[in-house]
Amino acid sequence: MSHPDASRSGEFLLGGELPIHRLGYGAMRVTGPGVWGEPEDRSEALRTLRRVPELGINFIDTADSYGPDVSELLLAEALRPYTGLRIATKGGQVRPGPTEWVPLGRPDYLLQQVKMSLRHLGVEQITLWQLHRIDPGVPRDEQFGAIKSFIDQGLIRFAGLSEVTVEEIEAAAKVFPVATVQNHYSATSRMREDVLDYCTAHGIGFIPWYPLSGGSLARADSPLRAVARRHGASPSQIALAWLLKRSPVVLSIPGTSKVAHLEENVGAADITLSDVDFATLGQAARVGRMG
Ligand SMILES: NC(=O)c1ccc[n+]([C@@H]2O[C@H](COP(=O)([O-])OP(=O)(O)OC[C@H]3O[C@@H](n4cnc5c(N)ncnc54)[C@H](OP(=O)(O)O)[C@@H]3O)[C@@H](O)[C@H]2O)c1
Repeated sequence: MSHPDASRSGEFLLGGELPIHRLGYGAMRVTGPGVWGEPEDRSEALRTLRRVPELGINFIDTADSYGPDVSELLLAEALRPYTGLRIATKGGQVRPGPTEWVPLGRPDYLLQQVKMSLRHLGVEQITLWQLHRIDPGVPRDEQFGAIKSFIDQGLIRFAGLSEVTVEEIEAAAKVFPVATVQNHYSATSRMREDVLDYCTAHGIGFIPWYPLSGGSLARADSPLRAVARRHGASPSQIALAWLLKRSPVVLSIPGTSKVAHLEENVGAADITLSDVDFATLGQAARVGRMG
């Protein structure tokens, strides 16, 4: 097998204009337990981040709330000035403590967080900024209007949403161009297929979070293990190859804090699943989830 290279996962045009490789990296795991504080093995986390571009990945997803701030600051320490890299971040959730996430969508808070992300990442403009959650306590058009103003001011280049329905995408798209949608989705977590189909039809990047179902699809007892054995691949590679085949707008961002797992995951770019494998896997994954 040749050197793993994410560029072989194919290309997607972010916002219809900025090319990125479809297999990216999610930087939530370079934090402490409960996505809180510093990672337990800081030097391995930094090694992992530095390995990302060497493996052909040029799209990284993070958020102000990962740590909070820890993930963005580590990215800056490891990778600034981000030559050839596109960094996506998010805002709109506060963190009272480990594993706690509370949406906060007041426009003045969102503006503050965009400015904090600019500072922490050390960039002049955020390539892709995503509203982490629509705050049900604030009129959504106020949140969407704030995002439009960030684009108009040049603070961010493209904007996206996270955990949304088709109706919410359509409402947001009346206010600003929706470049991406980041929803919970994997071979075993097939919620909101309608959102993915909508994104496919409209050329909106679909970023499935939890693409390895939080690691359970990568384990030895993964429901994907039989197909993985047939391909001489690991279950994590099959889970990611399944996502890449699901739609050309899927941008996969598996998370890891370890170099070895990162290298293994990028191997997914070299796996081509047949239509039969794709269907079998979809079925196996559903059965595995139920079993
Ligand atoms: N928008 C949202 O609301 C939202 C929510 C959650 C996550 N996200 C984004 O989605 C990204 C991915 O989600 P995620 O990290 O939560 O879940 P994930 O990618 O499904 O799984 C990550 C877990 O799998 C393990 N893992 C990764 N590769 C592995 C391998 N080859 N073998 C064995 N274990 C492996 C990792 O542990 P090790 O560290 O030990 O490798 C980690 O615990 C995040 O980084 C974040 O950017 C967004």
